[in-house]
Amino acid sequence: MDLKTVIEKRRSCRAYLDKEVPEEQIRECVNAARMAPSACNKQPWRFIAVRNANLRKRICREAILPGIKMNWLEQVPVLMVICLKKKLLTHILAPLLSGIPYEYIDIGIAGEHFVLAAEERGLGTCWIGWINAVKIRKILNLPLNETPVALISLGYPAAEPEPCSRLELDDILEIR
Ligand SMILES: Cc1cc2nc3c(=O)[nH]c(=O)nc-3n(C[C@H](O)[C@H](O)[C@H](O)COP(=O)(O)O)c2cc1C
Repeated sequence: MDLKTVIEKRRSCRAYLDKEVPEEQIRECVNAARMAPSACNKQPWRFIAVRNANLRKRICREAILPGIKMNWLEQVPVLMVICLKKKLLTHILAPLLSGIPYEYIDIGIAGEHFVLAAEERGLGTCWIGWINAVKIRKILNLPLNETPVALISLGYPAAEPEPCSRLELDDILEIR
């Protein structure tokens, strides 16, 4: 698939087959994430691929915030936890001057590299930001300097995801 097709085909997938994702596929997707650019090349990301059924169940039941129904999540064969590891100069001091949270930009780019690499391999994904980071840290026994900032579900799609609307190009692009 060329890049245009991968980008256009990707949709958030919320229905998965009960089929294991080979470790090699996970590694290839994280390798794509690893190539992402980052502010000062600090690469402030860590990926944890949660395949263990008990851990996945605990994350789904204890670490998703209330208000949005995500029952589908328990069927997902892999929950990727993206953690942020902040560096003092780039992620704490520099944003005091610029007002720009570089670390979240970095995480977003790396995560989307992961997502597009997954799409290219016929795998479905969905970003999940409605999470309780403290609970995830506890369940996975993460160190204090690694903060979970998003989950990405990963698995083989059970159905073609629904298309989702987008703003028109001329509504978001201004050329001066
Ligand atoms: C940072 C971020 C957080 C998101 N959090 C959730 C979430 O908690 N639950 C969910 O079902 N979808 C979540 N999504 C998926 C969005 O709802 C979805 O990307 C958007 O509606 C566009 O649809 P599409 O991905 O199918 O194009 C999230 C997406 C992003 C980028």
